[in-house]
Amino acid sequence: MIQFDAVHKRFPNGTTAVHDLSLEMPEGGVTVLVGSSGCGKTTTLRMVNRMVDPTSGTIRVGGRDVLEQDAAELRRSIGYVIQQSGLFPHRTVLDNIATVPLLLGWGRRKARARAAELLETVGLTAEAGKRYPHQLSGGQQQRVGVARALAADPPVLLMDEPFGAVDPVVRSQLQDELIRLQKELSKTIVFVTHDIDEAVRLGDRIAIFRTGGHLVQCAAPAELLARPADDFVADFLGAERGLKLLSLTTLADVPRGPAPEGGTWKLVLDEARRPQAWRTEGAEIPVRPLRDTDSLLAALNESIASPTGFVARVDADGALTGVTSRAEIHEHAGEAHSSHSTAGAAI
Ligand SMILES: Nc1ncnc2c1ncn2[C@@H]1O[C@H](COP(=O)(O)OP(=O)(O)OP(=O)(O)O)[C@@H](O)[C@H]1O
Ligand SMILES: [Mg+2]
Repeated sequence: MIQFDAVHKRFPNGTTAVHDLSLEMPEGGVTVLVGSSGCGKTTTLRMVNRMVDPTSGTIRVGGRDVLEQDAAELRRSIGYVIQQSGLFPHRTVLDNIATVPLLLGWGRRKARARAAELLETVGLTAEAGKRYPHQLSGGQQQRVGVARALAADPPVLLMDEPFGAVDPVVRSQLQDELIRLQKELSKTIVFVTHDIDEAVRLGDRIAIFRTGGHLVQCAAPAELLARPADDFVADFLGAERGLKLLSLTTLADVPRGPAPEGGTWKLVLDEARRPQAWRTEGAEIPVRPLRDTDSLLAALNESIASPTGFVARVDADGALTGVTSRAEIHEHAGEAHSSHSTAGAAI
């Protein structure tokens, strides 16, 4: 766990970057820091590994005060990923990833074997390992940045807008990869972003800062979306915060029934009972079937696209398990809102 206790940071030029910050970042969870430019996110992150020291207050990592630890040693024990990956341009990708293990005295062979293993973990080929950073795409470079940060298997990972410089499609892929990796590795991650959707997707907790280094609210995404502490937080979350909340609720609890018979539209299945399309005389509209793990937002979207207002639901093999009407999805969307609100009120 990372614990900030009454932490202040005032730079020599008089700027207060972080103001009286008390915050707990749970072990094995992702804490996302968001807020407008200059509100102290990077400074907060860099105080964890002592790239910046606080003016006052205490920061503990795993119960130990960081100021009582050797700064260089602490830095090597914490992974750090930044925007534009920060790779060494004159070293191959493999050598970039092996940097920290080599510094820790692992020996070249073991460090390189570890680097090769991590290349695969982050979805890159062995061939990519032989290239130099400028010979990779932006998204690939970010993957190398993540691999390098993971190389010595540190319990803590600091990520400062790691996916900020790539296009939305690649960004979404990198987020998927991080979610997958985190399921396996359970690192304590502090993640800075400007993108509230990214925060909602990745965060177990989201901390919202405002200018002057003030923490405004820290809560689980669903609680934050259902009960923003004030207008600043509500504005920051955006007008679609209701829809964002639906993206966090799955279809699992929404009832399903048999596909409608005898209407104008018929649901066409293949031989493995996988839904293909809605068919009527002279027209066929493709179906995007949904699983229980899909969100209510995806379901609403699909129900609007569906000519019948029904969405087709499938099991893990893609076979039809039933259909659900737009009205039923709506009803659950309303319940999702009120249940999150009540949960928030109880805290
Ligand atoms: N070394 C420094 N010396 C003086 N002021 C600094 C220094 N580093 C940061 N600051 C100031 O501290 C404040 C917080 O900066 P910080 O980089 O933590 O913000 P941020 O939230 O990460 O912003 P961004 O979203 O733009 O990255 C800003 O006003 C910045 O100008
Ligand atoms: Mg920053």
